[in-house]
Amino acid sequence: MYICLCNALCDQSIGRAIDSGVDEPEGVYAALGCAPVCGRCKPMIGDMIRERSEGNDLIGRGAPGSVGLEAAPAPAE
Ligand code: FES
Repeated sequence: MYICLCNALCDQSIGRAIDSGVDEPEGVYAALGCAPVCGRCKPMIGDMIRERSEGNDLIGRGAPGSVGLEAAPAPAE
């Protein structure tokens, strides 16, 4: 599921970034090689960080064995 439409970031990529140790949305963007654009996804990313820190992982951690912290490719213009 896409969380950040501006950067084409899905819950699995964001989850892996959080698992790598970031603890704020800005760190997630940096880990995925992008930056916030509109910022509408920040609250959701903040919720994901909080949920994982509390052990309530409600959205995708990614499939076991999945790899990469990379963002999905940007859509062609
Ligand atoms: S939806 Fe993430 S920066 Fe716009």
